[in-house]
Amino acid sequence: MARSVAARSLATIRSRRPVRRTAPGCRVPSLAVRQTRLDLDRIRAARNVIDPVFLTTPLYRCEPLGRQLGCTTSIKLETANPVRSFKGRGTELVTSRLAEQGGMAAVCASAGNLGQALGWSGRRRGLDVTVVASRFAPTVKLDRIRALGAQLEVVDGDFELARTRAVDLAEQRGVRLVEDSLDIETCEGAATIGLELVNALSSGDAVLIALGGGAMATGVGHVLRALAPGVEVICVQPLGAPAMTLSWHERRVVTTDSTDTIADGVAGRYPIPAVLDDLLQVVDDAVLVSEASIVTGMRMLLEHAGLVVEPSAALGVAAILEDPDRFAGRHVVTIICGGNVDLAAYQRWVQR
Ligand SMILES: Cc1ncc(COP(=O)(O)O)c(C=O)c1O
Repeated sequence: MARSVAARSLATIRSRRPVRRTAPGCRVPSLAVRQTRLDLDRIRAARNVIDPVFLTTPLYRCEPLGRQLGCTTSIKLETANPVRSFKGRGTELVTSRLAEQGGMAAVCASAGNLGQALGWSGRRRGLDVTVVASRFAPTVKLDRIRALGAQLEVVDGDFELARTRAVDLAEQRGVRLVEDSLDIETCEGAATIGLELVNALSSGDAVLIALGGGAMATGVGHVLRALAPGVEVICVQPLGAPAMTLSWHERRVVTTDSTDTIADGVAGRYPIPAVLDDLLQVVDDAVLVSEASIVTGMRMLLEHAGLVVEPSAALGVAAILEDPDRFAGRHVVTIICGGNVDLAAYQRWVQR
């Protein structure tokens, strides 16, 4: 069902392009930036709190991939860390502040990566971490959450049911609920990726960001708006999980009844209004891509970059594949945001 809604909406979205109202390099950034919940000084300070194992990740031009895609392609690699995703940046902030305040426990809902990151950061600080996840989440993510010492509760429904259950659990126990993308630390943590990008970017470049709840896009977008305003910031979501993208184009929260995508890390249905407001200030465009392009993107990242990635991390490459003219000859950075993938499914996807 979500697929048909999304397919119709994609046509509408494409007919509305270009969304950017000024040429790259001509944007006036200051007012828009002040209107988000984020603050550049706090983002800079976050770097002193986050364990360095998550920081200053590799950023490099990948020539073989760029040749295939028809644009200069840079990779920002967020998978070479203990939890194989960027989410550790945010959970380091959440847990360090919680521990400072004397908190002993935290609960979160997770599609799989936030739960691992909270488990890792919480364990370091002696916190009891409970993660609520969907039983449809990849087994490898659920296993790693448990292996990190977190308590895992699995719900018989999707990520949105896990969110509801996490709220109830935190209330019952009187402990901190960590809400990804709503809690400012999750956005600030992700925003530190933006600080690591700015020096490598020039006006007219594009940055492609996988869009789920929106922490990464609002965080990175905020930094780029402020420090590299000529850079185009583009969010990418699957056609099968389009709620936040539809919301961005409609400028109001749009929900869907279901999701249908292999990109489990970005498959939410209920966008958070405050996050949407921020996203509207700092993002130039939000696009939807097909499952076939995501699979091709994963295969290309394996073949031409030597990277095993989960589907959400291939969204940027998928976006280039679906609109090559838009990116032809430009410098495009794609954030490789997660590498937690079930091996059997991965092998199926990348086999031709
Ligand atoms: C691998 C991966 N990519 C992208 C996202 C989406 O990030 P955000 O929820 O910050 O939009 C997630 C979210 O957990 C993720 O795990």
